[in-house]
Amino acid sequence: MTHTFTIAIDGPAGAGKGTLARRLADHYRLNLLDTGLTYRAVAHKLLQLGLPLDNVSAAETAARQVDLSKLDRAVLSAHAVGEAASKVAVIPTVRRILVEKQRDFAKTPPGAVLDGRDIGTVVCPDADIKLYVTASAEVRARRRLAEILADIERRDERDMGRADSPLKPAVDAHLLDTSEMAIEAAFLAAMAIIDDVLAKRSGA
Ligand code: C5P
Repeated sequence: MTHTFTIAIDGPAGAGKGTLARRLADHYRLNLLDTGLTYRAVAHKLLQLGLPLDNVSAAETAARQVDLSKLDRAVLSAHAVGEAASKVAVIPTVRRILVEKQRDFAKTPPGAVLDGRDIGTVVCPDADIKLYVTASAEVRARRRLAEILADIERRDERDMGRADSPLKPAVDAHLLDTSEMAIEAAFLAAMAIIDDVLAKRSGA
């Protein structure tokens, strides 16, 4: 039997296991599988077909069709897909079908780093190394916040930088900075601006 080396990495979302898995796979020249993408692929298929996420037979079919060599991270990384993935991940038959594929992947020489939630416990209980990567919920939330901030900045840059109809205030726009305002305060401030204009108009 060919010897393969398996590193199993489990842990909650945002603990940094994906980055760690990639670095370790590079360093030890092992194949890499983010098993979360397999659950995401099933969820994405159901969303695409407009089917409910608890449609067991459709989810099973989608799971059988998952091709580990064609997991498109760009498409599957959307937040909504992750939410949906955690819903299809409760279906035992879907798990069984995906775990089978994940085990075959792990057995392919020279071996692999797999990351997910059940790698050390279910997928590869005989893994050579098992890591459980975690961080406090507070720290994970802070990391998520940093990602959201980067997303917002990228989007603003695109909207403001495009040649056709970029985002910018009209020269005669009233500036309303809501940084320090809750929605009610923003509504009152907008109303004050509008009422002021209306009063000037009726006075003119
Ligand atoms: O890790 P990622 O956010 O991509 O995983 C998406 C969802 O897939 C998780 O929230 C979890 O419900 C499910 N999952 C799982 N078992 C794995 C990997 C992911 O149940 N091994």
